[in-house]
Amino acid sequence: MADTTLMDKLVSLAKRRGFVFQSSEIYGGLGSVWDYGPLGVELKKNVKDRWWQALVHARDDIEGLDAAILMHAKVWEASGHVAGFTDPLVDCKHCKNRFRADDPRIKGTPGQPDAQCPVCGSKGTLTEPRLFNLMFKTFMGPVEDQAAIVYLRPETAQGIYVNYLNVLNSSRQRIPFGIAQIGKAFRNEITPGNFIFRTREFEQMEMQFFVKPGTDVEWFERWRAWRMEWHQALGLDPAKLRFHRHGPDELAHYAKDAFDIEYEFPFGWQEIEGVHNRTDFDLGRHQQYSGKKLEYFDQAANERYIPYIVETSAGADRVALTLLVDAYREEEVEGETRVVLGFHPALAPIKAGVFPLVKKEGMPELAVEVYHALKRRFPVFYDDSGAIGRRYRRMDEAGTPFCVTIDGDTVTARTATVRHRDSMSQDRVGLDQLEGYFRDRLAV
Ligand code: GAP
Repeated sequence: MADTTLMDKLVSLAKRRGFVFQSSEIYGGLGSVWDYGPLGVELKKNVKDRWWQALVHARDDIEGLDAAILMHAKVWEASGHVAGFTDPLVDCKHCKNRFRADDPRIKGTPGQPDAQCPVCGSKGTLTEPRLFNLMFKTFMGPVEDQAAIVYLRPETAQGIYVNYLNVLNSSRQRIPFGIAQIGKAFRNEITPGNFIFRTREFEQMEMQFFVKPGTDVEWFERWRAWRMEWHQALGLDPAKLRFHRHGPDELAHYAKDAFDIEYEFPFGWQEIEGVHNRTDFDLGRHQQYSGKKLEYFDQAANERYIPYIVETSAGADRVALTLLVDAYREEEVEGETRVVLGFHPALAPIKAGVFPLVKKEGMPELAVEVYHALKRRFPVFYDDSGAIGRRYRRMDEAGTPFCVTIDGDTVTARTATVRHRDSMSQDRVGLDQLEGYFRDRLAV
């Protein structure tokens, strides 16, 4: 399967089955903004729940937070985003299109007579590169002036930094400890694309771990290993995950060291999560800009310091895309192509399909009963239309790990057939055993 074909097939399957739709589609769509449909919202929610479970619920040293998207404009001055969160862009004076200065389609040097516009082909019409800020701006209150500017946050991290003392004091944590947050972030990306990989509105799952200076390197090493383990445990092909360490020219202004966790997408190896040693940059800057002391008092050592921060920052949409890409497969079965999304059962949007074999002899009534009983515990789907083989195929394509078929024997012996998505093998299970049977197999 050619790589571009795989992405095309995924985009089409995502729309057909209700994973992801283009935003505002009836108006021609909105560039690089996507909506999650009934199956997509479940998939992404499972990703976020799993992250929250691993970081907040399973540990004693991390607290949760949900900070507002809108923050004081000074936050973004202190963070360095107003001055430095920019891409160099060039404009074509002829066709008015705008490109990143490093767009590989540009021939020649922008600003010079030899440079040719990649869209209209004019020569010498490209401007010198100019810096363009990636933050979305809006105004708060009735007056649209400079003093009313607010930004849609380009990362969730800053909401954690400005709340660090609030969380510390209210939760009675001590350093080392972390704060975790899941939420929307917005970037006016100039070269977005690759479906939900790079979008202008996306969701981040970020955790900031506050440590004593001097212990940051060991915590950084721990966190990068733990985060890789988390991705591996999603059931992804291990050969498609790797670390990429930032070289000196790649490091963000706040980072002393950084590793990306990368996945091999059909369009190449790309970052899905960043693990950064941010030192005391963030709290130091917020202390300076706000004039409020953000030091930690270490009672045991009787000393004050600004904590160092080890950050883990993952994109929920990117993780959802890795799951879709990794799960997609086509198999030849009895002369037909079977499309399967082989999700880890814990991540699958629907856990089981429930079908009456035929619409008579008491089977639909019993199937509805089983469906309602299971639905109290898991997302399940009832389907009585079409041949049983077609119903199985529809569930394969939605990534549903199990199907329960109610047949003539169910009515008499109260047992049903459980069919497994991946092996297509079948078990016979008592109706009163079904819930436990699934619980065991859906465990995280
Ligand atoms: N707080 C640090 C930070 O935001 P980043 O490397 O710019 O670091 C972290 O972003 C993660 O957020 C990325 O690894 C990616 O998963 C996700 N992300 C960033 N920009 C994105 C975009 N335009 N679309 C989708 N996800 C994005």
